[in-house]
Amino acid sequence: MNRAKKTQGFWSQKEPTVESMFLKEIGADLDLEERREILQEIPNLTGRTVLELGAGIGRYTNHFAWVASQVTAVDFAPQFVEKNRARHASFPNVNCLCADAMDLEFPDESFDCIFMNALMMYLDHAEVEQLQERLARWLKKGGTLFFRENCTPTGEHRDDGYYVHYRTLHFYTELFDRQLQFIKQDNLKMFVHRYSNPFQCYWVYNKA
Ligand SMILES: C[S@@+](CC[C@H](N)C(=O)[O-])C[C@H]1O[C@@H](n2cnc3c(N)ncnc32)[C@H](O)[C@@H]1O
Repeated sequence: MNRAKKTQGFWSQKEPTVESMFLKEIGADLDLEERREILQEIPNLTGRTVLELGAGIGRYTNHFAWVASQVTAVDFAPQFVEKNRARHASFPNVNCLCADAMDLEFPDESFDCIFMNALMMYLDHAEVEQLQERLARWLKKGGTLFFRENCTPTGEHRDDGYYVHYRTLHFYTELFDRQLQFIKQDNLKMFVHRYSNPFQCYWVYNKA
């Protein structure tokens, strides 16, 4: 079975809940704390265009919906997309697409911001390389890429019904440094403080 079938099969069986987004029981306070920490790193998006890949039920789409001029939120799990769509039915600037992130095509320089919170860990290495090239094309000059990934010091891969790559920080930094301008890399303090986990990492890049 290929990566797409494995990952789509896994996620399309999950309930459209906040718990599914974290793959663990989680209180509303954690959801809020994570969003607060991550959104601090996102530039002012007033009047800007945003692409969100692996948007799930729209925890972050909601922030973009209020500020951006146009939001394209993509996920391949139909029940998540339905929930995101229903939640943002009154926002004409939000377009929720049900698609694999690897099956997308957009004109060059389409977006001011591309946002991915825990997506690339579900793609294989070749796909991540391909996606990096596409993201660099889809971003407008001066645009911002934000991504967060669950990493490990040496890299690990699971394929036991839950297909996932926990890559090294170096893997992502080396890859995205190729075409974009590095702005920042750090870990999410919430996971350090609550779970002693320093490997929930994020990156911010700009397109020069
Ligand atoms: C850990 S959840 C995070 C969801 C959301 N970003 C959030 O922070 O609430 C990962 C999401 O990525 C989606 N996903 C995984 N692989 C995908 C792919 N190849 N194309 C589109 N969506 C994908 C899953 O359906 C799931 O909604």
